[in-house]
Amino acid sequence: MAFMKSKRLQALPPYLFIEIDKKKRALLAAGQDVINLGVGDPDRPTHRFIIDAMAKAIYDPKNHRYPFDEGVPAFRHAAADFMRRRFQVQVDPDHQLIATIGSKDGIAHLPLAVINPGAVVLVPEPGYPVYTSGATFAGGRIHRMPLREQNDFLPDLDAIPEVVRRQARLIWLNYPNNPTAATAPLTFYERAVAMARRYGWVIAHDLAYGEVYFEQAPHSILEVPGAAEVAVEFHSLSKSFNMTGWRLGWAVGNPAILAALAQVKGNVDSGQFNAIQVAGAMALAHYDHPEVKGQMAIYRQRRDVLHDGLTALGWSFRKPTAGFFCWVNTPHSLPSLPLCARLLEEAHVVTVPGAGFGPAGEGYLRIALTVEETRIREAVERMGRLKL
Ligand SMILES: Cc1ncc(COP(=O)(O)O)c(C=O)c1O
Repeated sequence: MAFMKSKRLQALPPYLFIEIDKKKRALLAAGQDVINLGVGDPDRPTHRFIIDAMAKAIYDPKNHRYPFDEGVPAFRHAAADFMRRRFQVQVDPDHQLIATIGSKDGIAHLPLAVINPGAVVLVPEPGYPVYTSGATFAGGRIHRMPLREQNDFLPDLDAIPEVVRRQARLIWLNYPNNPTAATAPLTFYERAVAMARRYGWVIAHDLAYGEVYFEQAPHSILEVPGAAEVAVEFHSLSKSFNMTGWRLGWAVGNPAILAALAQVKGNVDSGQFNAIQVAGAMALAHYDHPEVKGQMAIYRQRRDVLHDGLTALGWSFRKPTAGFFCWVNTPHSLPSLPLCARLLEEAHVVTVPGAGFGPAGEGYLRIALTVEETRIREAVERMGRLKL
């Protein structure tokens, strides 16, 4: 029997990087010195005080059993406490907050909990691909909201046609943004909440990069009065605490939406290992620990090195104030995919072409600040040798 992938999988957007991935693997296999500025994965280890908490938790037999459905109480309480200290947002840890297996789990599963097949899901473009895949798996129809530089990479909500607004059930927002690195002012969230109330949308705000910032601290959408009536927000320990491999996050906001998400998760997974949640509680209790805050100074320094280096080459980009990506204009408006291929082949530098995030991402490269400063300098030097 010839195997056919499900229609759901076939409906996902095509993967554009096959050739680039092949080339990267070939260079690595040949022992070439490849500088990878492509991945959004912190290069530094998880902070020691979190590993110590995990080491202790792992010996406690009560952590060896199936996790609680909504998450270990200590973790939920620590997350609620974090929401209060960091954003001055009060939430009930028993009804307004559930643990997730990284934020990706919650992001991928939310559409199954809140939309019916055929409903429109509003998705930013460029954007994190899981908004589209989760909505597609749930039978949603995607309406893309372009993020343009002239609009500070915020979606123009007024430009969404009336008929689409009426068919939409769910809108995805993500600030600090991947890949554009933009942040959003509170006034933008106020507009989004007002529109969601008017049209009956669920707002899902992805705040996975909320604790990676160099200037003003990013907002939670829940700072907007009444936002919890329409919104849920996804948080993650991955980027903030160098914990991508641990897989821990939480969703917070509207209790009915969270109960529906917990019901979906109750049918597909059994939550994250309790010991990891206990260590996560320790991380959140010390989100302002000098080791955690010190990480921000490292990214800031790397950002400045990249900005100074590329500016000297005549390239340009808005200096990000949060997140660890730079959304760099391609020089001479070159198309991003062939430029990215040349950077890989001729400079052995990996970047991500903006077009990979959809047509609205064309004209940009995403460059991650997840390698040491010396490697960023080296990458810029190599890029400078290319005749573009
Ligand atoms: C915008 C955005 N949201 C969510 C995630 C998921 O991260 P995690 O599942 O590790 O929390 C990522 C990961 O790269 C991301 O870039």
